[in-house]
Amino acid sequence: MRTTTNLPEETAAPPTLVSTAEIAASDPPIVSKPAPLKTAPLAGKAASPTDWEKVRADFPILSRIVHGKPLVYLDSTATAQKPQVVLDTMENYYRTTNANIHRGVYELSEVATDRYEKARARIGNFINAKSSREIIYTRNTTESINLVTHTWGRANLHEGDVVLLTKMEHHSNLVPWQMLAAERGIKLRYLDLDPQGMLVLDDLEAKLQGVKLTSITQMSNVLGTINPVEEIIAAAHQAGALVMLDAAQSVPHLPVDVQALDADFLAFSGHKMCGPTGIGILYGKRHLLEEMPPFLGGGDMISIVTLEGFTPNQLPWKFEAGTPAIAEAIGLGAAVDYLSSIGMDNVHSHEQELTSYAINSMANMPGVTLYGPDAAHKGGVISFAIEGAHPHDIATILDSEGICIRAGHHCCQPLMQHLDVPALARASFYIYTRKEDIDALVEGIKKVQAIFG
Ligand SMILES: Cc1ncc(COP(=O)(O)O)c(C=O)c1O
Repeated sequence: MRTTTNLPEETAAPPTLVSTAEIAASDPPIVSKPAPLKTAPLAGKAASPTDWEKVRADFPILSRIVHGKPLVYLDSTATAQKPQVVLDTMENYYRTTNANIHRGVYELSEVATDRYEKARARIGNFINAKSSREIIYTRNTTESINLVTHTWGRANLHEGDVVLLTKMEHHSNLVPWQMLAAERGIKLRYLDLDPQGMLVLDDLEAKLQGVKLTSITQMSNVLGTINPVEEIIAAAHQAGALVMLDAAQSVPHLPVDVQALDADFLAFSGHKMCGPTGIGILYGKRHLLEEMPPFLGGGDMISIVTLEGFTPNQLPWKFEAGTPAIAEAIGLGAAVDYLSSIGMDNVHSHEQELTSYAINSMANMPGVTLYGPDAAHKGGVISFAIEGAHPHDIATILDSEGICIRAGHHCCQPLMQHLDVPALARASFYIYTRKEDIDALVEGIKKVQAIFG
């Protein structure tokens, strides 16, 4: 049994068999930029106008009836629905190819390995990583961020060091740093928000003084604010700080190019971008990942083990202990192919149109307050309050109409405190959302008002 793992070559061709001898004899260099896939163009602009009704028809769940009403799914910020191609890819994997990866010297395992590693290359290509070695499979954004706090953080942060966050962070990008602060005596500092819900950057230079790393969300899951991360990254680097982006809401909805951004680390989740749950990504610049100690210990993350100790495996497997989420990784590969075939510029402009439509429809409704900036500065997220109605009651009444929205603190309790609200209702959009869904929401809000009126 082999104890080291080897990548099949990162080609764009459909998964091919890699012979045992080939795998054993070589560790092919990872091609810096795989050729475009034949099945789907890369992220960017699609060639012809998108037929959004056709896109919508790719999602079987959307034809469901809930409480006798057609499903209106407005909770994609929490998790996105899955297109048929992702469902088929995963089912096909289990039906035809299921085997553990990296260890088997038989054909099935080699094909599974090949598909798993080719998905990694596709995902790397989707965010324009230089190399697949910079793409670490995790369970989700939360685990990706914890990986950085546990490894880079523990190795590099010492008492008195400063980490800069913002007041709009999800608990996933807050609590791991608070845990590290309690353990290591590091200090946390926060960028403030203006009344529109945009980051205050006037004092950025001062806030960056003495900062070792800044970790910020590229897009807020509550306000929808798209933060000017290019500007923040440039200023942080100037001040000698590294930057991690919480890209849980940006990678699914915007074109993201890690090289153009010059991000040091970037974290996102498969389930928010048409992929399955249980799979996420940590992108890291190769030299940083090389220097970091491993995260979890166990199988696959080692190259040699003796009773005295171990030598870590090479990237990316150094950070992937144990049997990974194989079908999920392959499913996420199918999801990025699918999004690429639509084009991320298209995805963003579709959502901007929906956001403008929603703001225009809701802004003047009496008793309704919207949170966050205007449509030009935000993604497809509308957080709102209705005078006299608790968000949980709003969500329950909307549910009776077949409308799914989210209510609560959205894992952003400090942001709720900043906004001085106990909770908010939130509707969020994706590629399958249509204006009729927003019309249904508006009618649902009127029903809530009639009940609480
Ligand atoms: C901005 C942001 N960061 C992090 C997360 C955590 O994602 P996950 O639960 O997939 O780890 C979310 C989830 O909603 C989010 O919106």
